[in-house]
Amino acid sequence: MPTYCIIGTNRGLGLEFVRQLAASPDNTIIATVRPSADRADLEKVASPTTHVLECDTANVQSVHIFSNQVARNILAGADGPSTTKIDYLIISAGINGTPPGQDSLSLNPVLLNEQIAVNVVGPAKVVEFLVDRKALSPSVRILNMSTGLASLALSSGMSPRKSISYSMSKAALNMLTVHQGYDLRARGLVQAVVIAMDPGWVKTRMGGEGAQIEPEESISGMLKVLHALKDEDNVSFFGRDGQRKPW
Ligand SMILES: NC(=O)c1ccc[n+]([C@@H]2O[C@H](COP(=O)([O-])OP(=O)(O)OC[C@H]3O[C@@H](n4cnc5c(N)ncnc54)[C@H](OP(=O)(O)O)[C@@H]3O)[C@@H](O)[C@H]2O)c1
Repeated sequence: MPTYCIIGTNRGLGLEFVRQLAASPDNTIIATVRPSADRADLEKVASPTTHVLECDTANVQSVHIFSNQVARNILAGADGPSTTKIDYLIISAGINGTPPGQDSLSLNPVLLNEQIAVNVVGPAKVVEFLVDRKALSPSVRILNMSTGLASLALSSGMSPRKSISYSMSKAALNMLTVHQGYDLRARGLVQAVVIAMDPGWVKTRMGGEGAQIEPEESISGMLKVLHALKDEDNVSFFGRDGQRKPW
């Protein structure tokens, strides 16, 4: 009876994670949306064991309230603290919006700060507050949704270069992944595995017109990778096909 927590589920990749996981009645799903989100598509795919909570990852207070709700209302049993914990935490919420043509010599600081807030600080605080609330299993699997654009190694050969501030924020998310993988184990989650994942170029609002693959294919690949993770995979960067990516 695994428990999944997926951040950012009203559309895009997060919605498809819920759709595929909700097909099994054994799965408990905690699915988050922003307060302003249209939940219609999520409600269509949710199972009876899907709990929808609000969480705006750009707002630390919102993440704090969300983590308290998870601990008090979902994981706690009627008679007090429960042994139920989150087995899989998938942080899909993210933003891009870098205009074409913007490069390192024309960086927009406002946009970069917004991307850092959602793509880096949000994932850090989600994990921090869920750890504080003892909501994560000692062998939790955490997937930080990254991109091939985050890879320093691959980026040096990329042409044309694109999405400067987005790629910087996702490179920071990759570094966060490395820190989290070690810090969680030091905090007693001794078999925790934290990975960064490149979903491929997927047909969502962010992926846009030219994207190559359907969400269904991307998510089924990522779930296979997630479910096959071993303890020694902690602090790794994977593609949806399970191939390791260079940091
Ligand atoms: N699609 C691709 O080709 C691709 C490639 C590489 C990496 N990725 C990564 O995959 C993840 C999902 O992307 P996607 O394609 O599904 O994008 P998307 O279609 O644009 O959906 C983004 C999701 O993130 C949510 N979100 C944005 N800001 C948020 C915030 N402050 N708090 C909580 N939720 C927030 C959105 O909610 P709202 O509707 O409320 O805005 C939406 O549910 C992102 O991290 C992205 O960087 C995508």
